[in-house]
Amino acid sequence: MNVRGFSDYKVLANKAFLSESEALAARLKVSLIEEKDLGAFSEETDFLLRYTEQGLVLENLAAKKVNPVIVNFEVGAANHRRLFGGGKGQLIAKAVGFNKTKSDIHICDCTAGLGGDAFVLASLGASLTLIERHPVVFELLNDGLERARCSDSFEVAEIARRISLQTGNAIEILTAKISCNEKYDVVYLDPMFPERKKSASVKKEMQFFHSLVGNDEDSDQLLELALQAALYRVVVKRPKIAPFLASVKPNTQQLGRSSRYDIYSLKKLPD
Ligand SMILES: C[S@@+](CC[C@H](N)C(=O)[O-])C[C@H]1O[C@@H](n2cnc3c(N)ncnc32)[C@H](O)[C@@H]1O
Repeated sequence: MNVRGFSDYKVLANKAFLSESEALAARLKVSLIEEKDLGAFSEETDFLLRYTEQGLVLENLAAKKVNPVIVNFEVGAANHRRLFGGGKGQLIAKAVGFNKTKSDIHICDCTAGLGGDAFVLASLGASLTLIERHPVVFELLNDGLERARCSDSFEVAEIARRISLQTGNAIEILTAKISCNEKYDVVYLDPMFPERKKSASVKKEMQFFHSLVGNDEDSDQLLELALQAALYRVVVKRPKIAPFLASVKPNTQQLGRSSRYDIYSLKKLPD
């Protein structure tokens, strides 16, 4: 798979958001492009980041049929999942152990992505530390979380305030945590799994995201560290057909239609 390098990205020097656009281009060390030059923007260097009234958007200019990526927890799938996803009865909630404890739990989601799973977990009452290593994915998620924290919806704002996001490699961050003898209650992992070739079920948006971040080849190592950095359990989300991470068999599983949660229990959750 062709994973995109940073020369493939540009930030639109959008007049209404000029200072934000300039700051973003400087953080990512990519160039700005003016609206008038967009037409000449090569089909090969096609990822455009643009600030809009709705938030930061990533567009794939060469693939017009692929929806732009924006993190918005108040609409669409994220909102639907929060309102109708099944609360503490849904698989991810059972996997983390919400049905086994009334205590507040702190979860470290080491593979934050666009924050969908984390937002569900926070909406169930957990507090979360999120780690995302891809700088563009981090910027999109950070933008979505900042907007959510200022939402007119008291509930959405409260949920987003339970989430803190950091950028970096979770392998290094967990290693530092372990060396300080500190632990998270639960560590959650959802690494990218190699794309199934020619599968119609892999949506265009998913392929787009996959082409951004590539395969997470080091996720076996992440599991080994997660098992040392978690107090109660490690939960790994996998496609149903995928082998166990690091070939380590979990204690239990929650099985869904296309994915599953592998649960590595370390200690009984507090009542
Ligand atoms: C499949 S996505 C996660 C999707 C996420 N669960 C959601 O609901 O949006 C995997 C993400 O984890 C990130 N990632 C993988 N390994 C990582 C690591 N060692 N440190 C930090 N981020 C990592 C990738 O960059 C990618 O954005």
